Amino acid sequence: MMRWSGIKGALASGVCAAAVAVGGFGVAAAQEALTEETYGPTMSEIRLIVGDAELHTDARYWPELGEDLDKLFPMFRQIEAFWGERGNDDAVAKTLTTIEALREIGQAGIAMDQGSARSGIRALRATCQSCHDVHREETADGYRIKPGS
Ligand code: HEC
Repeated sequence: MMRWSGIKGALASGVCAAAVAVGGFGVAAAQEALTEETYGPTMSEIRLIVGDAELHTDARYWPELGEDLDKLFPMFRQIEAFWGERGNDDAVAKTLTTIEALREIGQAGIAMDQGSARSGIRALRATCQSCHDVHREETADGYRIKPGS
């Protein structure tokens, strides 16, 4: 019960958060640069937040979806910087496609359009897959960056 009245009150700030997320600027600079050691753990965190975003879309919890995006944008800016540093243009391009999908979800969140948010999340997951297919390798105890990537 509280939840629903809370949502209405929080909506304005949530839309704001989503609007900031759509811009996605300014935050990345404050983040620490990723290393090969912190890259995998960051990806695992991303996976959890994308799961949250999907649940929040299903529940139409738009302010919470905005918060998820506020976390994901700076993380993918870090990923972009990581690959830029390595001179891997293909991985940078794939990361930018991921960021595009985040924008699509952000717009859908602002419009409170569940169908568009869901298709944005599908597009997002497809971009994860497209990068994993080329730049990720499975090892005996998890994953690693493909040698040469
Ligand atoms: C630009 C390339 C790229 C994109 C985009 C990308 N990943 Fe990854 N991901 C990698 C690479 C490379 C690894 C292997 C590195 C590692 O695990 O140490 C990885 C590893 C992972 C892992 C395993 C982490 C571990 O080591 O246990 C998860 C989980 C993951 N990614 C989730 C995602 C999700 C979810 C998305 C999309 C929302 C995504 N990734 C988008 C490149 C990418």
